[in-house]
Amino acid sequence: MTEIQNLESVKTPGAVYFIFGATGDLARRKLFPAIYSLYREGKLGEDFAVIGVARRPRSLEEFRDDVYRSIQEFCRYSVDDQSEWSRFAEHFSYKSLDINNIDGYRELLQQTEEVETRFGIPGNRLFYLALAPELFGSVSFNLRKGGMLDSSGWHRLVIEKPFGYDLISAQKLNEELNQVFKEEEIYRIDHYLGKEMVQNIEVIRFANAFFEPLWNNKHISNIQITLSETVGVEERGGYYDNAGALRDMGQNHMLQLLTMIAMEPPSRLLPEDIRDEKVKVLRSLRPYTSPQEVKENVVRGQYSEGESGGKALPGYRQEEKVDPNSDTETYFAAKVYVDNFRWAGVPFYIRTGKRLPVKTTEVVVEFKQMPTNVYLGQKHKLEPNLLVIRVNPMEGIYIKINAKKPGTESQISPLAMEFCQSCQVGINSPEAYERLIHDAANGDSTYFTRWDEVATAWAFVDRIASAWAQESGDISTYPAGSWGPEEADKLLAKDGFHWWPVNGQEEDNVIWIKG
Ligand code: BG6
Repeated sequence: MTEIQNLESVKTPGAVYFIFGATGDLARRKLFPAIYSLYREGKLGEDFAVIGVARRPRSLEEFRDDVYRSIQEFCRYSVDDQSEWSRFAEHFSYKSLDINNIDGYRELLQQTEEVETRFGIPGNRLFYLALAPELFGSVSFNLRKGGMLDSSGWHRLVIEKPFGYDLISAQKLNEELNQVFKEEEIYRIDHYLGKEMVQNIEVIRFANAFFEPLWNNKHISNIQITLSETVGVEERGGYYDNAGALRDMGQNHMLQLLTMIAMEPPSRLLPEDIRDEKVKVLRSLRPYTSPQEVKENVVRGQYSEGESGGKALPGYRQEEKVDPNSDTETYFAAKVYVDNFRWAGVPFYIRTGKRLPVKTTEVVVEFKQMPTNVYLGQKHKLEPNLLVIRVNPMEGIYIKINAKKPGTESQISPLAMEFCQSCQVGINSPEAYERLIHDAANGDSTYFTRWDEVATAWAFVDRIASAWAQESGDISTYPAGSWGPEEADKLLAKDGFHWWPVNGQEEDNVIWIKG
């Protein structure tokens, strides 16, 4: 593996992309649009083919129409040149497959060889399983049995979360996959790792002299990570009711963000070195050792009826395919410690929830206060400095400092200096899936989760889940459209902190300098 390249300029090697679950939501919303963007940017060239695989019968025209519609609706590029579209669509074909029927795989092999010859593709095959995880094992097995892994090029498996339901099921799934694919051939997607600003965390931390020296327990008082969503469970009630916020967002996206913030600088910018550092953070998470500790440090809640923007919203238990007596959490907040020399004593507060007032992903790094008993601190209430990394949907960073209020004799007020990347005309960040498909095709696994990361994250999360499973009594609720259960505020208040406002819900006293 070579140093991470400047991906802007890298064309992917010729390959066939198999999208299993080609008639599903993920393919329609994310995967086809991502492939089109890569094509438009010249990163795919012409030596590629996409074979959509699903059970449903679809004619070639119907399938290409589906792809066209998905691009027009969800892609950041729109199709405006018909001849270019036809050239692109030529690369797409469809295979209706019963994934348990081995004969179907043999037909798929024949179709694959045809497109490989037609587009001059050297046997590289990327299998993207946008399927229920229960099917990963059998599809992998049948791919091998059907001869799909016998070509001379590389073979890579890209799989979506959830990777298991807990450590034991994840281990079982991993063992099944390992019978067919080697670890380095498995690309476990965590789409948060493909987000522009998540990747930017490394740069902000390791390329700026004024952050890295302060990035430790001597200068940082606490770190807050918020992943809030306005949506409810939509049409995914069946899946979600089984999973809950801890498994759906906590085990993966939240802990991944935390590792990016907390990891040591890797010795080299190579995928394995970076992933080694991330695993060390996960191993340093202080485990909760009793249900009582979980109770003290983790808050969970479920949304009840509420409203947002004048619109009445149903409670979670009224959602489709959700058990009317469900005690699945749609919100959780936790206080987490990373027990290593850099972070000893610094609480990381993480929270996520559905039906919260805004959609946002933000990391707030709160620095320690200046001594209050000297100089300016004696007369003024100084606010702590903050560094805020905005991941989604706004992308950018801001820092909050104390400065003299302009036009006054001696008043001090907080001043926020913002760089809003997503507000800049001409900056149209690639979607996470574009980067991740591009990286997988280039064999760069940096922003995919390695097995030991997944396993260590499950081990941490399992302790919380098992404490909750033992708990009797009802889960606390919060009205849809609110900021979650009150206990989440108390979690910070006990330590003398509070959640900082997110997503532009700014405090009145702050002067903003926007850029
Ligand atoms: C998914 C979760 O992984 O991430 C969803 O399963 C959640 O429940 C989604 O809505 C959020 O992703 P994003 O990119 O919209 O923040």
